[in-house]
Amino acid sequence: MNNKTVTLNFSDGRPSIELPVLDSTMGNPVIDIRALASQGIYTLDAGFTATASCESGISFIDGDQGLLSHRGYSIEDLAYKADFLEVCYLLIYGELPTLEQKSVFVDSIRHHSMLHDQINNVFRGFRRDAHPMALMIGVTGAMAAFYPEAQDVFDPKIRDLAAHRLLAKVPTVTAWAHKYNKGEPFVYPQHSMGYAENFLHMMHATPCEKYEVNPVLARALDRIFILHADHEQNASTSTVRLAGSTGATPFACIAAGMASLWGPLHGGANEAVLKMLEEIGDVSNIPEIIKRAKDKTNPFRLMGFGHRIYKNFDPRAKVIRETAHEVLNELDMNDDPLFRVAMELERIALEDEYFIEKKLYPNVDFYSGIVFRALGIPPSMFTPMFALARTAGWVAQWAEMLSEPTIKIGRPRQRYIGPQLREFVPIDKRGS
Ligand code: SDX
Repeated sequence: MNNKTVTLNFSDGRPSIELPVLDSTMGNPVIDIRALASQGIYTLDAGFTATASCESGISFIDGDQGLLSHRGYSIEDLAYKADFLEVCYLLIYGELPTLEQKSVFVDSIRHHSMLHDQINNVFRGFRRDAHPMALMIGVTGAMAAFYPEAQDVFDPKIRDLAAHRLLAKVPTVTAWAHKYNKGEPFVYPQHSMGYAENFLHMMHATPCEKYEVNPVLARALDRIFILHADHEQNASTSTVRLAGSTGATPFACIAAGMASLWGPLHGGANEAVLKMLEEIGDVSNIPEIIKRAKDKTNPFRLMGFGHRIYKNFDPRAKVIRETAHEVLNELDMNDDPLFRVAMELERIALEDEYFIEKKLYPNVDFYSGIVFRALGIPPSMFTPMFALARTAGWVAQWAEMLSEPTIKIGRPRQRYIGPQLREFVPIDKRGS
């Protein structure tokens, strides 16, 4: 039994408080501050820079070393030795599947990949030029109306079915959002195809001719899905957990996660990186953009750089950079100007004192847009791609939270800095 403690001594004479210090399996110990509330003391940590919101066994990040693991397996091992559905199984159930377990899981995901035919009409309520993230959020939330039994979130079997339905249907929703934007007919999922292959087929096939998915590109995309699957308690995962803690249906929780991911400081960064690289256009313009990023009076930030936790290379960025080489090579696009700008921008930034001092390194979003673009995916679809992959982590974290014996609704406190209590003033007396 861990008996480490820390003592809070108060200069105003109130009695000191002893708090337990809990070790983590890997990484920092935590001070368990739950007893403070009963002593009338709150803590303030806007942005949760040092506050653990939960206990989780799913992912672990070592920001100083630039390491990421899922259920103890390194992201490099998973990216190069597993496939995305194996990683989905690992995130949800805690172990890599046996051949039999994987076969049953893959069949279940395939079986649930079609959308209810009425959902066609949900898409048609949107303008054709609606951002695909708005379509994804709307349609995913609307699926709650088609699966009302998912509301019984405290039944493990119901949770499992909802998780499978979401993993299976979100790729179809994502691809159909793209088709809806393009004004092309929806392409149905094919049970004969792999997960990434099926997605690329739904994205690019038309009823007019057979569409063969390049297996090298499908494997590259499957790997990129793995790299985006889960990442501890990031903003969108924390959104899913907070929504899930109220007992909300999982379709609403995942739609909330998608909404949170959409922000340009989070999952929207990949689209912003490509826009930034296109704006730079040529390596000769890099010094100007670096200057803007360092100018404290300018809100511009170098998109795809920096991270709340990684103060070293984001390990996912390294794998995506290698995958970008693979894909551009396969497509004979090695001299892709944007990739050259990206690599030169990375080189220059990593030598710049500002980025070194603030420990700003490329993150997962820096190279992903280049790969997505090479795969024929438009920038507006980059964040939907991130949301598709992160659905695995969201459902796993949601299920982990709901499987805890005592679930507590998330209800942060605050430090009140508003006016003291005051008398009401009738409107004819105001301003006098
Ligand atoms: C993702 O949380 C996750 O795990 C997220 C994610 C996941 O998988 O879920 O990893 C996915 O969201 C990756 C991040 C994608 N976002 C971007 O690439 C947008 C650009 N990056 C920044 O906006 C920023 O780095 C954040 C938002 C990612 C992190 O911000 P923090 O942790 O709040 O850090 P900060 O804003 O306090 O920055 C510390 C300093 C500041 O300068 P000072 O005020 O100390 O002088 O570094 C500066 C910042 O101005 N800084 C940057 C910068 N990022 C931070 N300056 C220029 N360009 C940048 N990109």
